[in-house]
Amino acid sequence: MANEDNLFKNVIAHAKEYGFIFPSSEIYDGLSAVYDYGQNGAELKNNIKEYWWKFMTLLHDNIVGIDAAIFMHPTTWKASGHVDAFNDPMIDNRDSKKRYRADQLIEGVIEKLEEKIEKEVEKAAKRFENFDRAMFVTTNARVVEYQKKIDEINARLKDAMGNGDMAAMKQLIDDLEITDPISGTRNWTDVRQFNLMFSTEIGSLADDANKIYLRPETAQGIFVNFLNVQKTGRMKIPFGIAQIGKAFRNEIVARQFIFRMREFEQMEMQFFVKPGEEMKWYEYWKAKRMKWHQTLGLGSDNYRYHDHLNLAHYANAACDIQFNFPMGFRELEGIHSRTDFDLKAHEKYSGKKLQYFDTEDNQSYIPYVVETSVGLDRMFLSVLSKSYVEEKLEDGSERVVLRIPAPLAPHKVAILPLTKKDGLPEKAEAIMNDLKYDLRCFYEEKDAIGKRYRRQDAIGTPYCVTVDHQTLEDDTVTIRDRDSMKQERVKIADVKAKLIDACSINNLLRKI
Ligand code: GAP
Repeated sequence: MANEDNLFKNVIAHAKEYGFIFPSSEIYDGLSAVYDYGQNGAELKNNIKEYWWKFMTLLHDNIVGIDAAIFMHPTTWKASGHVDAFNDPMIDNRDSKKRYRADQLIEGVIEKLEEKIEKEVEKAAKRFENFDRAMFVTTNARVVEYQKKIDEINARLKDAMGNGDMAAMKQLIDDLEITDPISGTRNWTDVRQFNLMFSTEIGSLADDANKIYLRPETAQGIFVNFLNVQKTGRMKIPFGIAQIGKAFRNEIVARQFIFRMREFEQMEMQFFVKPGEEMKWYEYWKAKRMKWHQTLGLGSDNYRYHDHLNLAHYANAACDIQFNFPMGFRELEGIHSRTDFDLKAHEKYSGKKLQYFDTEDNQSYIPYVVETSVGLDRMFLSVLSKSYVEEKLEDGSERVVLRIPAPLAPHKVAILPLTKKDGLPEKAEAIMNDLKYDLRCFYEEKDAIGKRYRRQDAIGTPYCVTVDHQTLEDDTVTIRDRDSMKQERVKIADVKAKLIDACSINNLLRKI
């Protein structure tokens, strides 16, 4: 059985062994922070996309979806601020030769202080009956001291980031006596800004005039199409435009599997609202998006909000929905009130009006925008890591099972004839031919049935339908449940409705 420390390693190894995720171009030793999705991974990913896309575009009659190109006119990125401000502060340790994000080193100190506070709280909660957390954290001397330190660091970090003051950043690292986790030394270089956009040239001439970028977010494809969609779709404010697509960032530190990649996918929705109403919609989308996540059933305690202290250049309010990943709580989704920053900037740089005429108020204005932005790969990691369970069974044996929510599972049902003879395979194939239009099926007749069940557990198939000799007599099969491992005998005629009910993404959406 794995402890917390190597659980993440086991999840990564499992993802590779069972066809979920492979390192990119592995035969050439891979490419740092780039991954390929295998046969099971692609299915799981598609199901997550469907859950999101349907939530946005089926459940909201004022949200439509688009699919914009990855390449955009280079001025897009000047207007959006990415050319000038999409930087991360980087620092190198001269001894280990490792590169770090300076802000993350500092945030690491804050996290450690927060952990210390939590430890004090836990200790006190055990000691006192009717423990009052709020009272404790404001009166306990040690906790107050930790909190003071956190506030101080946050304020300095915010200032340094906000002013792009890299010298102040370096000073903070020195003052906090941060050491490199690998070399253990404080032999740091200066902090430098590093732009995260990948660039290439369009056409045959490799000069600066032809330089274009691989989009670092999908959002801009929505902004530049705002009026196209509004006019052709006769959309009335408030309305949203949703999009799923690839984004690219030349991340400085990309070491946590698919959590931080250089090529990844985003599922973003920009919601256009009347100026002044953005905070109402910001709260609305915060609540809605949290409900969408929690409805998956991975455990509501595994999600929490985290308000941004250092607001991005375009936001007047922002928070993350964090998830309890194997390495702790980290950002899963961002919800941002982006004001009219983007549309205004595109108006300025393009010279084209990007205003909405409000027929109710009889006036034109640039709408404000509330954005929800979730990384598809991070969603994948949240589902995979929380579904992965190493179990000791009553008979002393062990199994690894992926308890993936049934509607997201790569295969919904495995059709397994008990033996390869006596007409059982033919009967099983007939059942599969009936089910396969509604449910992704996996057919297998090799090996003992127990082994086959384990293989399905390992790829997260929620149900196994076993065809045995009794099937030939009374047209019944057994359905084995992945999580309880219980089997029930069911009439073949009832199998389809039962499984569709349990595995339907639409049923999941009904619970939101
Ligand atoms: N349009 C706003 C935007 O891009 P962001 O917070 O930079 O905001 C949104 O990114 C989401 O995209 C994040 O919450 C995360 O899930 C995902 N994401 C960002 N960078 C990523 C990376 N390098 N690898 C994987 N996912 C990433």
